Amino acid sequence: MNIPFGVKISGLGSAVPPKIIKNSDLESLFETNSEWIESRTGILERRICEFSAEKPDSLDLSIKAAKQALGNTSPEELDLIIVATSTPDYLYPSTACRLQSALGAKNILAFDLSAACSGFVFALMTASQFIQLGTAKKVLIVGVDIHSRFMDWTDRSTAILFGDGAGAALIERTSAENNQLLSHSLHSDGSGACELYLKSVGGQFPNGKIQKPVETVFMNGKKIYQFAVKAIPDILANITGNIDLKTENIDYLICHQANQRILDSVAEKLNWPKEKCLSNIAKYGNTSAASIPLAWHEYKDQIENNSLLALVGFGAGLTWGGILWRWKQF
Ligand code: ACO
Repeated sequence: MNIPFGVKISGLGSAVPPKIIKNSDLESLFETNSEWIESRTGILERRICEFSAEKPDSLDLSIKAAKQALGNTSPEELDLIIVATSTPDYLYPSTACRLQSALGAKNILAFDLSAACSGFVFALMTASQFIQLGTAKKVLIVGVDIHSRFMDWTDRSTAILFGDGAGAALIERTSAENNQLLSHSLHSDGSGACELYLKSVGGQFPNGKIQKPVETVFMNGKKIYQFAVKAIPDILANITGNIDLKTENIDYLICHQANQRILDSVAEKLNWPKEKCLSNIAKYGNTSAASIPLAWHEYKDQIENNSLLALVGFGAGLTWGGILWRWKQF
């Protein structure tokens, strides 16, 4: 397809809260041990937003990541802000509108996008289409989640996995010849919604006893694991096949960081060296919509110019998707 414009990345940023929770810290909350968590997930520690009047909350993390990604670009130059999140501080207004105001980006469009751990990939594709159609020139995208606020801290099967964080990218218009977005493949299957969810419950109309609403994350870990180890290689085959490449042409996979074993199994299936699947899960756990930009930002100086990157997200919905991206240092 001929496109009038291309897209390029011109900034990356990330932020995590200062509080570190090590695996051993969880041993006092429920029956588990550090070795089990490390061997089954690859996670050593995660960052948690402490609940206090001083914050930080998901807006604070978003602001920090966004300012880094913007660099010398003034927020007033932006046309659009998209925030991918499933754990906003407020159901409304959107985190994107609050971020717009905090950055002082006036007279622009800002909205949230909900696709759980696939959120950043969906946001990158949405931003790119606004740019490629000529509707926007500069778009800020943020992936942020603070799952610590929505965890059942007595459930060892979920509470060990998640951490809080934010990652951001500045995407800009370039010429069609210099387009960095080479191919994509995005999917949803609502029939899998029951395998991973966080129900939103407000207070009900008083009819007898009023209960304080509390809902926490439910995850069928095995099902999600099986889904991920199949979906990721399929997506990689799709996005390379779309432009007559092969999965071996990919230089690095920046995948949603859910479990080190998932990344290792992708490397094994594709006969890749493990190092091709970039990972920082040991330090941050699963930061949901933040995990891809967090890893991208962390590894950006080590990725050689012109490398072929595969960005792949998967998560609740179920949702999954991948983008093939030609990396150019900025
Ligand atoms: N500590 C000690 N033992 C534990 C723990 C724990 N924290 N959790 C479970 N166990 C026990 C279980 O009770 C079970 O014991 P049993 O054999 O006596 O019944 C045993 O360990 C094995 O449990 P499994 O659930 O089979 O463990 P598994 O190896 O599948 O690992 C895990 C569980 C880590 C959750 C894995 O299934 C996984 O990573 N799933 C994918 C999660 C994911 O990708 N999420 C991403 C999407 S998130 C989003 O979109 C918001």
